[in-house]
Amino acid sequence: MVLASINDRQLIDQLEEGKIIRRFVDDQWICVTKNDNKVYSFKDKCPHARASFFRGSCEDGKVVCPVHHFGFDLNTGRGHGLYLENYPVILHEDQYLIGFEKNIFGF
Ligand code: FES
Repeated sequence: MVLASINDRQLIDQLEEGKIIRRFVDDQWICVTKNDNKVYSFKDKCPHARASFFRGSCEDGKVVCPVHHFGFDLNTGRGHGLYLENYPVILHEDQYLIGFEKNIFGF
């Protein structure tokens, strides 16, 4: 598992609940959002038809895809028989660390 840091601590701390921001981390786009004051991170690729979540939203603990409006649970990733690829986030020494797997090609 790779731990990548997001150095925008202030931006994430001030992130409005339900808004989604994207960051290019370790060769891939990831999304970051907040729900009930907890930070969540997930791959910026919808498991349904690979759309970006960038213009999506979060409601009631789910991230909602902007294309077909499927909702995926932020904790489990489950939604509509599919799984969102979500990543653990921890706050460590003033920066957020996101853990994710790299495939054999390095991304
Ligand atoms: S592409 Fe996301 S729900 Fe269809």
